[in-house]
Amino acid sequence: MSLTQSPFGQTSGGAPVDCFTLTNNNGVVAKLTTYGARLVELHAPDRSGRLADVILGYDSLAGYLGKDPYFGATVGRYANRIAGGRFTLNGVTYDLAKNNGPNTLHGGKVGFDKRVWRAQPNQSADRTSVTFMYHSADLEENFPGNLSVTVVYTLTDANELTIDYTATTDKPTIVNLTNHSYFNLKGAGQGTILDHVLALRADHYTPVDDTLIPTGQIALVKGTPFDFTSPHRVGERIDQVKGGYDHNFVLGGQGGALRPAARVEEPVTGRVLEISTTQPGVQFYSGNFLDGSIHAIGGTYVKHGGFCLETQHFPDSPHHANFPSTVLNPGQTYRQTTTLRFSTT
Ligand code: GAL
Repeated sequence: MSLTQSPFGQTSGGAPVDCFTLTNNNGVVAKLTTYGARLVELHAPDRSGRLADVILGYDSLAGYLGKDPYFGATVGRYANRIAGGRFTLNGVTYDLAKNNGPNTLHGGKVGFDKRVWRAQPNQSADRTSVTFMYHSADLEENFPGNLSVTVVYTLTDANELTIDYTATTDKPTIVNLTNHSYFNLKGAGQGTILDHVLALRADHYTPVDDTLIPTGQIALVKGTPFDFTSPHRVGERIDQVKGGYDHNFVLGGQGGALRPAARVEEPVTGRVLEISTTQPGVQFYSGNFLDGSIHAIGGTYVKHGGFCLETQHFPDSPHHANFPSTVLNPGQTYRQTTTLRFSTT
């Protein structure tokens, strides 16, 4: 196992940004940066042992400061959408930035993805990790409460990358954290993900309106293009879904316990990604807004050139009493754990 630190660039305000490269004994590499506590590269072996970087990203900070659809980022304080750019908590209404049509997306104008985090690397015999820390001040992006957040990425020799999140607050607030990596198991820039075969442990999903806000309904996937309870090619039924997949799936099993959520297999390289999480939901996004205008690590990112599986609480939870609550009160600790496991067939 090895862990190295190197400079990644400077923000426009002159803040230095670092990178950490974690390598396990099988050659699996995870590269992380303090800018947005992001995953920048993730190299996994194919069935003949050849490594490729399987996530989309830039090779220097300058790329992330330009056109960035949240590549590999830690997203918060509230990942996904909040309808109408406002929510009410304990009788007080908070107006947020409307940075996605009429709605708030991924924490507002300057979310956690655009902040420089502090970092603490750690290494032991069988694991190597980096702890990222960020203090989100009271009323930053107009969310109430001073929020202390940690995100720990841990790489093991089992070819597992675990992401552990915690957060505490000094006033009631709302929290929803996720990682926004775009995967292409053929390798970043190697065409679309439409031939990847996806299985999701979700009997239900949350249908949305035209602005991608949940209607509140928890609908059965059975008999719809959203049924991935048995494996399907992503592209098989995507034409039946207006705009492509960009939906929250309701995960089965006991929320709060780490349990399997998704399995993705790429038939040509044999690479398999399995995701487990403690979260109640996962946003399956099929890279619909990628349009070939980004040229970064591995080549050009075409439409459907990557997919995201964002483990999370449901979008717009503050407006839906029937969704699991995203309220965090003083004295409580928000926790979420998600594990990415790579293997081959
Ligand atoms: C996803 C979201 C998409 C899109 C994307 C960023 O999490 O569901 O609608 O906004 O982020 O381009």
